[in-house]
Amino acid sequence: MQRYDKFDFPLAETRQHLETGPIVLVSSCWQGETNIMTMGWHMMMQFSPALFGCYIWEGNHSYEMIRRSRECVINIPTAANVDAVVAIGNSSGRSVDKFKACGLTAARASRVQAPLIEECYANFECRLADDSQIDAYGLFIWEVVKGHVATDVREPATLHYIGQGRFRVAGRVIDMSELFKPQNL
Ligand SMILES: Cc1cc2nc3c(=O)[nH]c(=O)nc-3n(C[C@H](O)[C@H](O)[C@H](O)COP(=O)(O)O)c2cc1C
Repeated sequence: MQRYDKFDFPLAETRQHLETGPIVLVSSCWQGETNIMTMGWHMMMQFSPALFGCYIWEGNHSYEMIRRSRECVINIPTAANVDAVVAIGNSSGRSVDKFKACGLTAARASRVQAPLIEECYANFECRLADDSQIDAYGLFIWEVVKGHVATDVREPATLHYIGQGRFRVAGRVIDMSELFKPQNL
């Protein structure tokens, strides 16, 4: 196995290597208005119930919509959606209908008011499970209450943001399951 020569890495750039991804699109609905934001800072927090945490900046229009409605949908785009991912991240729902501007289709969710984005291969309906970390950290902790995943996508080319407008694209799966001891992971 290779060993590496390394340099003293600037801490503020840590995200280039530790940002988990995949990039998701968060859709929301509040008082009849729908919106979408691009998001990279999130993590799974528990298996069952499935808990998911994410950071939402309070300056985003989505912040108030999501905080008030206590619901959202986490939609997962692939490289095929990269133009929409950037356009959604570059604009605010205060002045733009992002579904219309990006040619995306809103579909009715089954457990929440926020819409599913049909052009994303997976959609997870979420209800706010814990709001105790929002004021201090902008950290929303969600319970995933319903999932929709495309039947025919095996190795989704998800987008993983590394900063400065660049994305890494996932794809190839390395299957080590026969040698793997913790079968539940
Ligand atoms: C690749 C990428 C990742 C982003 N990740 C986050 C994030 O994790 N949290 C956040 O609050 N904003 C994030 N943003 C910024 C929001 O997507 C952006 O501010 C968006 O315009 C908010 O839309 P809104 O005002 O309609 O809510 C990201 C933007 C991009 C392009």
